[in-house]
Amino acid sequence: MTKTNAKKKPKSQPLPYRLRRSPVHGSGLFATRSIAKGEHIIEYTGQRISHAEADRRHGEKEPDDGHTFLFTIDAKIVIDAGVDGNDARFINHSCDPNSEVVIWDGRPMVEAIRTIADGEELAYDYNLTRDPDDGPEVAKIFACRCGAATCRGTMLAPRKKPKPVAPKAKAKAKAKPRAAVKKKAALRKKKAA
Ligand SMILES: C[S@@+](CC[C@H](N)C(=O)[O-])C[C@H]1O[C@@H](n2cnc3c(N)ncnc32)[C@H](O)[C@@H]1O
Ligand SMILES: [Zn+2]
Repeated sequence: MTKTNAKKKPKSQPLPYRLRRSPVHGSGLFATRSIAKGEHIIEYTGQRISHAEADRRHGEKEPDDGHTFLFTIDAKIVIDAGVDGNDARFINHSCDPNSEVVIWDGRPMVEAIRTIADGEELAYDYNLTRDPDDGPEVAKIFACRCGAATCRGTMLAPRKKPKPVAPKAKAKAKAKPRAAVKKKAALRKKKAA
């Protein structure tokens, strides 16, 4: 056999995670080797849609269904990983996470925020938008089972202490973010049923 100088195709690296059943919820992603702090693990992919379209899709679900593959990028774009999504859609929430999602050029990337041990479940804090008037029924729909010592019992963002707001900022604060609107709509539907 003759040797050639032709450049070899670089070997593709094995994925640093695998999908399996999670004790937290359904399926989850688990590290298949130690992952270093700052390492990019996987991009969160899916169909890019508007907030209005995300509301419409969420509205088709049962009112008390807290399961979501929707990921908000900014005020205009939501990613629906239920359509053309990759394994990132199976990463569960933790109140004591080992990862976070950073936006690179408009693309969400799951990144390790500390060393993740081989076999550990990957998780980031969903920090779901919370309205000041959200009651315990909303927190229950999005109940957390991460098992962390610091678990706050819900995937909703921690409560913010009310700050005095200037009149202009007050008007802006009235505009409801998509997640809040969808939760309110779900509860209205539930009450009407
Ligand atoms: C993007 S999916 C994550 C993958 C999910 N385990 C599955 O098998 O489809 C997000 C959904 O998983 C569930 N989930 C994720 N983390 C959770 C947690 N810590 N406690 C309870 N449910 C969780 C919630 O229903 C949430 O809306
Ligand atoms: Zn928790």
